[in-house]
Amino acid sequence: MFTSVIIPAAGFGERMGATIAKQFLPLKGKPILVHTLERFQQCAEVNEIIIATQKNSLEQIEELLSEFQITKAVTPVPGGERRQDSIANALNYIHTQSEIICVHDAVRPFIHLREITQTIETAKYFGASIVAVRAKDTIKKASTDGRVEHTLQRSSLWMVQTPQTFQRKILVDAYANAERNQLTATDDSYLVEKIGISPVIVEGSYDNIKITTPDDLLLAELLLQRFVP
Ligand code: C5P
Repeated sequence: MFTSVIIPAAGFGERMGATIAKQFLPLKGKPILVHTLERFQQCAEVNEIIIATQKNSLEQIEELLSEFQITKAVTPVPGGERRQDSIANALNYIHTQSEIICVHDAVRPFIHLREITQTIETAKYFGASIVAVRAKDTIKKASTDGRVEHTLQRSSLWMVQTPQTFQRKILVDAYANAERNQLTATDDSYLVEKIGISPVIVEGSYDNIKITTPDDLLLAELLLQRFVP
């Protein structure tokens, strides 16, 4: 089945506090985004990659693709104000034959091939699939003034990552519904859940961090030393 990957990479990375967006920060001499692209380039199930980026970075992306020999079909497209807007726009550029769409954050370079493949296979069969890891800490719901309201049952809690993979129609319908009902989400699964579909969890690894703050960058340097795709 023709499979597309959308990489949202249009964030500004305010929490990193750097002058360049976090997806372009170097990790062992290579931008984080390039490490991430290499994972999907290596994945035989993936036919095309759409990168949503800030308008003024479109040229820079083209240069990176050629410098680092990313030869799989890659289309850089303009992103939007929120992550959700970036993906909504990327959906307009998906290949007509595409049947499966996998969404993966540009700033998660430590994704294993096995997880990409499993989420794609699971989505083919069940319609929707997300990569997640079991919560290690106890998680509590608190009020805005910082008082504990209740404790959640840890054994049923998962910390959700990307990739999140969907049959094309499901993701397109979820985004259309989000637009109609003005829903806001930090992940795609939420929008899919809102159209009554329950994604299947693929258990991932704690390596798959989202590089967000300067501390994460230090951790990423350590992870890179022992990472095997
Ligand atoms: O902001 P957050 O950490 O959730 O970003 C996750 C991913 O979404 C990053 O790769 C970031 O570049 C991307 N993003 C985007 N468009 C935005 C905001 C974030 O593509 N407007």
